[in-house]
Amino acid sequence: MPMMSKHLVSKGRVSPKYIVPVHIKYPDYAETERGEQKPLAKTELSTSEIEQMRYTCHAARRVLDKAIKAVHPGVTTDYLDVIVHEACIAEGGYPSPLNYNGFPKSVCTSVNEIICHGIPDDRPLQNGDIVNIDVTIFLNGLHGDCSETVSVGRINQASRNLLTVTHESMMRGIAAIKPNGLIRDIGYAIETYAKAHGYSVVRDYCGHGIGKLFHSSPTVPHYYDPREHTKIKPGMIFTVEPMINMGIWKSKIWRDGWTAVTYDLQRSAQFEHTILVTQEGVDILTLPD
Ligand code: CO
Repeated sequence: MPMMSKHLVSKGRVSPKYIVPVHIKYPDYAETERGEQKPLAKTELSTSEIEQMRYTCHAARRVLDKAIKAVHPGVTTDYLDVIVHEACIAEGGYPSPLNYNGFPKSVCTSVNEIICHGIPDDRPLQNGDIVNIDVTIFLNGLHGDCSETVSVGRINQASRNLLTVTHESMMRGIAAIKPNGLIRDIGYAIETYAKAHGYSVVRDYCGHGIGKLFHSSPTVPHYYDPREHTKIKPGMIFTVEPMINMGIWKSKIWRDGWTAVTYDLQRSAQFEHTILVTQEGVDILTLPD
């Protein structure tokens, strides 16, 4: 299949790390390049912190929208990284991926068969590619996280269908969130819909609690896990970010230790929102203003 192999992603060169000015508040891992201090995970957010979280999440969306506007054939993912890096700083925030467990860049860019955690590099985007841009900003002590997969130039019908179904599966997962319901209801809704369209759901990466920490509890599987009995409670803030594959759900990781790619090299798409569980239902915090 020469058409397909032409579009397979090979690793490009990664440019040196960019610096975040010192007037920006860094998360604790920025200098250690390790994970986060987990004890913070138990700290629930106050009412005013939840309001702050709304602001942070809107900022994440503004940054993401700037990056999406820059997507064109010929543009490198490194350039998208520059856009995200500078947009985060302009918002007064820190680009959360930078130095998180040693991640070398300010955003994840995942092209075609890359599932997630792609490292921006000098590979120019090609007409017909799809690219997921996953933005997280740390602003006023809180993280906000969202992502979208967009088309580069003109994409084929199969890729268009994948994007449509992946977005709808995320929205159905969010619609399944009910206070006092179960976390597994989300994965049930997503998997049922994705499978009905002949796709599979990635099992190796999940949604996550977010706030003072980039990644905390609960873990949110996007597939149905009958053993999962975690209750959904008002005040919880977490991400819903299904990764949907055209082929099998299995993944492998490039030698860079980050880039997750589909095992069969078929395409994968992802959309992500950060949501707040309310008394009545759910608020999507990363919608556009
Ligand atoms: Co996330």
